[in-house]
Amino acid sequence: MSRPDLLARLSQAQAERAEADLLRRLRSVEAADGPYVVIGGRRLLSFASNDYLGLAQHPRLREALTAAAQRWGVGATAAHLLGGHRDAHEALEHQLACWTGRERALLFSSGYMANLGVLGALLREGDLCLQDRLNHACLIDGARLSGATMKRYVHNDTASARRQFETAQGVPALLASDGVFSMDGDIAPLRELAALCREQGALLHVDDAHGIGVLGTDGAGSVAEAGLDQNDVPVLMATLGKALGVCGAFVAGSAALIDGLVQFARTHMYTTALPPALAAATSAAVDIARFETWRRVRLHALIAHWRSGARSRGLDLLPSRTPIQPLLVGDSTAALRLSRELETRGYYVPAIRPPTVAAGKARLRVTLSALHSESMVEQLLDAVVQARA
Ligand SMILES: Cc1ncc(COP(=O)(O)O)c(C=O)c1O
Repeated sequence: MSRPDLLARLSQAQAERAEADLLRRLRSVEAADGPYVVIGGRRLLSFASNDYLGLAQHPRLREALTAAAQRWGVGATAAHLLGGHRDAHEALEHQLACWTGRERALLFSSGYMANLGVLGALLREGDLCLQDRLNHACLIDGARLSGATMKRYVHNDTASARRQFETAQGVPALLASDGVFSMDGDIAPLRELAALCREQGALLHVDDAHGIGVLGTDGAGSVAEAGLDQNDVPVLMATLGKALGVCGAFVAGSAALIDGLVQFARTHMYTTALPPALAAATSAAVDIARFETWRRVRLHALIAHWRSGARSRGLDLLPSRTPIQPLLVGDSTAALRLSRELETRGYYVPAIRPPTVAAGKARLRVTLSALHSESMVEQLLDAVVQARA
């Protein structure tokens, strides 16, 4: 009996995507210089990066990286448990635990891996995993892989989450939410979610990929800003590749949680440790993010500037007070057209289309960084108005 050809099926799916104008295109960035990128030989002012504090090219990070690479070489050479765990990792874990007010922290090679690892270690078949409808793909994938029953509640709606809990009483449960939603920029109602989880005897897991470095007085993130401690949010995950400008991620929580993850998180156990030089660069980044408060102050001033400038030009905004300031377009083709129009005017702002966002919710995901100036923000606002005309 002949079998369907998998590569032909993949090509067919690709053709369907192209037909719907939803094809993704990999583009090479030839140079990066502060908020500018060079693509296809053209220098563009980028509003697309997650380098919210402007640390990715900071001299102290470069120095820490090169000094550690001189000492260790490049690769960690092994998984954490098999000789890959170096003192640079250990120091960073202590620093992250201290910053977030948790007993311990554990590094992962990416945020995707951290969420797969923690959900896989905690959940089993028959357990309940509640997820906000707009959670990041890796939280969804982590729950799927774990075998738990996943239910999704209406975005940021605690009453909807409560109803979902009530359909499955008496089973172990975990509620996972982005702290800051990656495509909308709004913040989860963390205090309400923590109270609900306490009432329901469920574990709360917050993915603060976009909150760390950005929110809270010392940048410890959305959970710290909400005044929630380790008892309220027992599982705190955040990435190192956004405001901290490097790459990787960590999970922070009680010593019991971290000890359990070391034993059971497969994406920690069966993968090569993050290069130690990256851990050293991240330590420098955490120092700057914690103590150079002016970067956060400047970022939030730019966000306010963007929002008042957009309002005065009649542009629709989503309710976000974070550096993620999407411009909702709706139709995918129109979003792509607007992005291309902006590019011809010298701005790089990619369109975000389904399936990353729901059908009819295509947008330009504008992100702001402490590297931008108010005049850059003004220029982009004017360009958007002209491009839409
Ligand atoms: C909310 C959220 N969680 C997790 C991730 C994944 O992190 P990483 O890029 O480190 O894999 C991202 C983005 O990439 C994200 O936006």
